[in-house]
Amino acid sequence: MCGIVAYVGYRNAVRVCIQGLAELEYRGYDASGIVFVANGTLEVVKELGRPENLRKKFVDGLPNSRIAIAHNRWATHGVNNIENAHPHSDCEGIIFLAHNGIIENACGLRENLSLRDHRFKSTTDTEIIAHLIEESNKVVGLEEAVRTVLAGISGSYALVIISKKEPEKIIAARNGSSLWLGMGNGEFFVASEPSAMLAFTKSALPLVDGDIAVIENGSLVISDARGERVHREFRNVTWNVEEAKREGYAHYTLKEIFQGPEAVGNSIFDRIKEGRPACADDSKLREKIRRARRIVSSACGTALYSLELGKYFIEQYAKLPVEVEIASEFYTKNSIIDVGDVFLTVSQSGETLDTLEALRLAQSKGAFSVSIVNKMGTVIPSISDIAIFQNIGREVGVASTKSFLSQAAILLLLSLEFAKIRETLVEDMEEILQGLKNVPALMRKVLAQSENVRALSTQYSHFHNFLYLGRKFNLPVAFEGALKLKELSYVHAEAYGAGEMKHGPLALIDKDFPTMAIAPRDSVYEKVISNIEEIKTRGGPLIAIATEGDERIGRLADHVLYIPETHEALSPFLTASILQLFAYYVALDRGCDIDTPRNLAKSITVA
Ligand code: M6R
Repeated sequence: MCGIVAYVGYRNAVRVCIQGLAELEYRGYDASGIVFVANGTLEVVKELGRPENLRKKFVDGLPNSRIAIAHNRWATHGVNNIENAHPHSDCEGIIFLAHNGIIENACGLRENLSLRDHRFKSTTDTEIIAHLIEESNKVVGLEEAVRTVLAGISGSYALVIISKKEPEKIIAARNGSSLWLGMGNGEFFVASEPSAMLAFTKSALPLVDGDIAVIENGSLVISDARGERVHREFRNVTWNVEEAKREGYAHYTLKEIFQGPEAVGNSIFDRIKEGRPACADDSKLREKIRRARRIVSSACGTALYSLELGKYFIEQYAKLPVEVEIASEFYTKNSIIDVGDVFLTVSQSGETLDTLEALRLAQSKGAFSVSIVNKMGTVIPSISDIAIFQNIGREVGVASTKSFLSQAAILLLLSLEFAKIRETLVEDMEEILQGLKNVPALMRKVLAQSENVRALSTQYSHFHNFLYLGRKFNLPVAFEGALKLKELSYVHAEAYGAGEMKHGPLALIDKDFPTMAIAPRDSVYEKVISNIEEIKTRGGPLIAIATEGDERIGRLADHVLYIPETHEALSPFLTASILQLFAYYVALDRGCDIDTPRNLAKSITVA
């Protein structure tokens, strides 16, 4: 995620902002930039890399501005270069703004602005907002212009805005992306998280979605989405800097589990156009997919399980066979792949060496390569024929959580896009797309039950072994859920297809070997119920994840965690969220090192 810091008051605003940006570095630091007042006008300075590089640009010392807005960029829309670094400005260089989030309708807005002769300096979605405010500000005052423009924008944003015409005013606005205000003695801070201002003040408040705050002449006015003035209380933040980075969550992993809905939203925004999936709109890919006999795919860990889920999506909807293989095996056995194949890979970090080797092998044999990656500027997307970015911000916890959900969302969209290309269009395409848009809301409902999951985890955290079962779309989720439990809590967990369990693993089942059965009401529900009965007969403790209102399963399982009703292809987003929480709370009970589990690293660049 990117980071925002702004300041107005009696201190050196450039120093305050760069110091704040340094606190936000952990969220990503591809580039940073700042706007401040110098010689009665606004000046902008940007630099690639860490905020320290930005500081070094001021070779004659930091200018003595009392107001500034600043930003750390973690590249999502557009490559990492100076032009794409924030703050962005309008045609005349009057309005400057820094933004976290994603503007969904950026493409259409950009086209319209171009027709009205606006000239763009960057390829970001953010710059569009500056041009829109420029237009509106010719007719109404700055605050009104901001309000009007934000009403026409869809997507998420935390924004800070400053204008050359009113260089003593900062406007801050929030919708779906964190933004905090801080207050000192005659000074105000704005930051995407409180850690950026804790060195100066402990008095802070989080803005609410729809809020627009105007800071000027030592006063603050906040109005809500309807434009009505609201009173929001500053409170004394007792967190230290490290706690503030986690925004109150005990661990980054928990924060990132709760960012799952936003991650899914950011991954699909802008990729459903006119009711159709548009993930990788590329003529060569279309041609390859039309002619392909199969997709060959390979990755590691969680990314591998997201591909396993992608296989179910692609085979179900695009009727195209997908082979999935562990990357370290794929390249060591010199797998068979050729020019007619499409090679698909997934990597959060974009630099996992095993995955990279698999990609290189596929390319050396002439396959067309598509990668889904979170981190821009890394080697895997840079050498792939097509790179699709997850747009979910940095994932700090070693265990992938929001990444899995984002990758799954992109793979579902891709499968529908391939279905369109191959004319295997499914009747329920509309329903799935509509449902997918609603998934973040359903995930929030699931996460709201975290206290139930926590209580249940406590009852089960003393067990040493778990069996995770699923079928169809939820079989890869079972594997991913078991991996989460293993790596976060160091508890042995193995996943099986629910139907396969009677061919061996059933022998393990006794009162000390609990089963986590994923059993939403879907096309394989009855079969999973039979499998659950086989376990109960053998006296194994059983937790089921089921659809709300399912009383039958309540009579079979010892405990049930419920998800809302949804299309069966969408249930993995909900079941995976529950399993992430479950693994987290078991690990918490067992006192594990949750954000940095023993023996593991976030990015594995050795083979
Ligand atoms: O960065 P990548 O997605 O390529 O990483 C792949 C695996 O190393 C990663 O998913 C790993 O399994 C995580 N620790 C899982 O939580």
